[in-house]
Amino acid sequence: MKKVIIALLIIAIVAVLCALAYFAFLAPAPQTGMPPLAPADHAQRFETGGADYCYTCHGNGDAGNPQDKDSKALPENHYVDGSYDNKALDPGRMMCNTCHAVTPGGEAAE
Ligand code: HEC
Ligand code: HEC
Repeated sequence: MKKVIIALLIIAIVAVLCALAYFAFLAPAPQTGMPPLAPADHAQRFETGGADYCYTCHGNGDAGNPQDKDSKALPENHYVDGSYDNKALDPGRMMCNTCHAVTPGGEAAE
């Protein structure tokens, strides 16, 4: 009986260690938050120029990061390999509008 209890204890400890290892090293990093809405004046921007157009203001380029100082820099996880230095968007982030809906009530900006 004692051996059975010890064996069960060992199994339990191993299971806990496996779970810790999974969450520490293997599980995908949780998103830091919800994608912020794009401001109302962004209506039709994605339809106008897609991710490349967004990049002209929010991306890392010759004019700085972000290129439009009044905008917010894209989080580093929006870039290939999670690095600003790539100056290339992660393919999974190209459809900006699927995550960043425009605040309702916006008029299309000129
Ligand atoms: C002409 C420059 C410009 C373009 C092009 C542009 N943005 Fe913006 N964006 C801004 C500015 C300026 C702000 C305002 C930042 C603020 O008021 O805090 C902003 C704010 C945002 C925000 C809110 C950020 C936050 O933290 O609240 C999101 C999301 C966003 N833009 C997404 C996009 C997407 C997606 C596109 C392409 C469809 C795009 N933007 C195109 C200039 C631009
Ligand atoms: C798969 C969903 C997803 C896609 C696609 C996506 N984003 Fe985001 N974005 C997020 C999330 C979530 C955040 C909040 C910060 C974080 O958790 O990384 C964010 C944050 C931002 C911010 C705010 C940065 C700040 O500091 O406030 C901007 C600007 C932005 N994204 C622009 C874009 C643009 C432009 C594109 C397209 C090139 C895009 N995003 C594509 C999910 C997405």
